[in-house]
Amino acid sequence: MTDMKKRPTAESKPVDHVTMTPGHVATMPVGHVTIADRRQFLIGAGTMGAAALALGTGLGIRKARAQSRAEISFASAAFFGKETFGDLIKAFNESQDRILVKNIELPPPSSSTEVYQGLVQQLARRNGTPDVFSQDVIWIAGFAAAGWALPLDEYFPADKRSAYFTGTLDACTYDGKLTALPWFMDSGMFYYRKDVLDKHGGKVPETWADIATIAAAAQKAGDIDFGYLWQGKQAEVLVCDAVEIITSNNGAILAPDGKSALINQKGAVEAIQFLYDTIAKTKISPQDVLSWDEEPSRQPFTSGKAMFMRNWSYVWPIAQDAKTSQVVDKVGVAPLPAFPGGKSSACLGGYQLGVNANSKQREAAIELLTWLSSTETQHRIALNFGLAPTRPALFQDAQIKKEQPFMASLEKVFTGATARPKTAQYAKVTLALQSGISKALVSGNVQAEMDALADQINKIVA
Ligand code: GLC
Repeated sequence: MTDMKKRPTAESKPVDHVTMTPGHVATMPVGHVTIADRRQFLIGAGTMGAAALALGTGLGIRKARAQSRAEISFASAAFFGKETFGDLIKAFNESQDRILVKNIELPPPSSSTEVYQGLVQQLARRNGTPDVFSQDVIWIAGFAAAGWALPLDEYFPADKRSAYFTGTLDACTYDGKLTALPWFMDSGMFYYRKDVLDKHGGKVPETWADIATIAAAAQKAGDIDFGYLWQGKQAEVLVCDAVEIITSNNGAILAPDGKSALINQKGAVEAIQFLYDTIAKTKISPQDVLSWDEEPSRQPFTSGKAMFMRNWSYVWPIAQDAKTSQVVDKVGVAPLPAFPGGKSSACLGGYQLGVNANSKQREAAIELLTWLSSTETQHRIALNFGLAPTRPALFQDAQIKKEQPFMASLEKVFTGATARPKTAQYAKVTLALQSGISKALVSGNVQAEMDALADQINKIVA
């Protein structure tokens, strides 16, 4: 771990990009530290004559320029697509000359738990760094309850808020206060290979049982290696997969009042049993899904080896890009299936924006937030990252409709998505879920593991 107290050396350059992983909480070289060091360097250099003086003058000009811009930091999980969040921050820096943002790159969003831990380490120091951060929708309650996220109501009054989906605003609200600004939405969806499906009935399956039957038939016929890919790794995404299948069987993780677990009830147990069976019984999924999160499951799909897959929307632009995909124009996207008597359910994901309650640069932070969440930037994020806007108007945008057709056709899937438990205790609840569901999927003792898990969750939320 880089020592936060360690001063950069005289050679250190202004940095507008830092990579940070938990266990490696990088020094965040905010500008004034760099400038102070330069001053020391100049005092030493002053004795060295004219050359040093000339150098000193150059640095002096740069110092004056740097000081005229408010310097803030932005930390986020590293999403990628046709560009990176680092590129977005660069565009913001170039768009104006009042604020200079340092980009702090956390691990990828599939490492949600690790990104969370990295942010918690920073925010708990209460020293104002990072000034702005993006937060997975599941952390909003916890960050607000800890007093780390600045309430934003006064900066984004009702007339500004009305441009966002009400569901996303609800997700950004804790204890009656808006503690996050909507940014982009994610939701679980069902990818299928149109060409393989055409040979096997042509109709997009709407029940889990149909998936198993069709996928097994396609595998048996040798048309495909893997029938169905999902994410069984002991990680946050497993909770997302579980929420979807459990809800689609009229089950739930917690009771509506959030005070007791329902994960050991019939609806949930049957759903987890189905996932276990995809590996052990129907064999439409390889054993490997138990160690796969988003990207390892996406790769065999876009290289043409799988018929069906559950994943997030970021896969679409990758699947449609000939540089990264063997299945361009062969992929369809639909709502996930349900059990008989249940309804299709997508897990609500996505990252929303937050301001550090201890930031000393609130005005600059709000300006960055406003830019990141603007119509223009959300438009850019939709096109370049495949991430859905939180502004309903953008779902009608012609270019987005053309380049990301699934967004408009699945608008209801996004807006009707099922949230993971909204509790300040979520960090504990998710670790219990990840471990308990994982044990059930490895052992096949689904009821016993769900009983043990329910006991554990009841202790956390009671
Ligand atoms: C996506 C979702 C996020 C979720 C994560 C799990 O990034 O947007 O909400 O927690 O996947 O891997």
